[in-house]
Amino acid sequence: MHLSSLKKIFIMGITAALMTCSLSCFAQKIGISLPNPDRPRFNLDGEVMKSELEADGQEVIVKCGDRTAETQIKNIEELISNDCDYLVIVPVDGSALGDVLNKAKEKNITVISYDRLIMNSDAVKYYATFDNYKVGEIMAEYLVKKLNLTQSGGDPKYIEFFSGDKSDNNVEALWEGAMKVLKPYLEQGRLICRSSESTLDTTHTLNWEKDEASRRMTQLIDSMNYGPGEDKNRLDAVLCHNDGLALGVIEALYKNGEYRKENFPFVTGQDCQVINLKYIKRGMQAMSVFKDARVLAYAVANMIMQKINGEEVVVNSTDTYTDGTSNIPTLLCSPKFVDKDNIQEIIIESGFYDASELK
Ligand code: BGC
Repeated sequence: MHLSSLKKIFIMGITAALMTCSLSCFAQKIGISLPNPDRPRFNLDGEVMKSELEADGQEVIVKCGDRTAETQIKNIEELISNDCDYLVIVPVDGSALGDVLNKAKEKNITVISYDRLIMNSDAVKYYATFDNYKVGEIMAEYLVKKLNLTQSGGDPKYIEFFSGDKSDNNVEALWEGAMKVLKPYLEQGRLICRSSESTLDTTHTLNWEKDEASRRMTQLIDSMNYGPGEDKNRLDAVLCHNDGLALGVIEALYKNGEYRKENFPFVTGQDCQVINLKYIKRGMQAMSVFKDARVLAYAVANMIMQKINGEEVVVNSTDTYTDGTSNIPTLLCSPKFVDKDNIQEIIIESGFYDASELK
């Protein structure tokens, strides 16, 4: 072979090696944009992703928001001008990021939508979340069991609903998951929503605000005459989409409905916040769905490392979620419920919280 051809092959080999190395040998920059500074959701997710990715030699910048889309857009703009190669975003408002993500797309940044789906942007490459339909199903199945709805005969049971913010794409999935389970009982009259506020439109809560949930529950207690006394109407369950809403509802049931732990309606939630776990132990909240931040954050750090190493990014659903432009390759993690019977095993023994924190 001619010397210059050998030289060419040699240079091509070196270039290919350098290209592979530029992906996996040099640190990539990962920007994480969180919607709020709350723990356990989403502050802990950020911490876990950061430590996992840093342990793998990557550089990570975390920007935490203040629950407004404006601040989040500014944060994402900064991450883009900091030359991030990856963006992991938990959107405040799933439909407000189209413009800023066009800039990410121009710079070839890989965007991963985390926990909540970003809508109407073809810049989003992957979605990773806990299965939100499943979360809704778990809450509803728990109530079906506790209210003995599968047994025929007996008095009907009474329920009210508190849903999350409608701009959060998870809320519709939570609603549909729960309704798939409860609808037959509502149709048969075994389960009754006395206020008739039993649609997403009539039960949603702006910004998932606890105080707004407390205000609406107080109003329902007054207008429906709910209470534990003989002269009051029964309320057996309140399906709340998360722990924040459950806190507002519990506060109203305690202060204005005069319910006590002996006669509390079954209140659901999700996130396993410390205060809610304490209420579960005391019998004022029935259950919370546990979306272990360590599981999801670890899974996303893993997806990023697969991409950096030039491996296939493993997802387990390609047809569950559409962002309005196309189906998004999604990694769905499985949630579990926590109640007073399994809190020790799921929360304490798994090391999520120390027993002393839940006293
Ligand atoms: C998350 C929940 C959280 C809620 C309010 C949802 O998108 O999935 O875990 O409780 O937002 O922050």
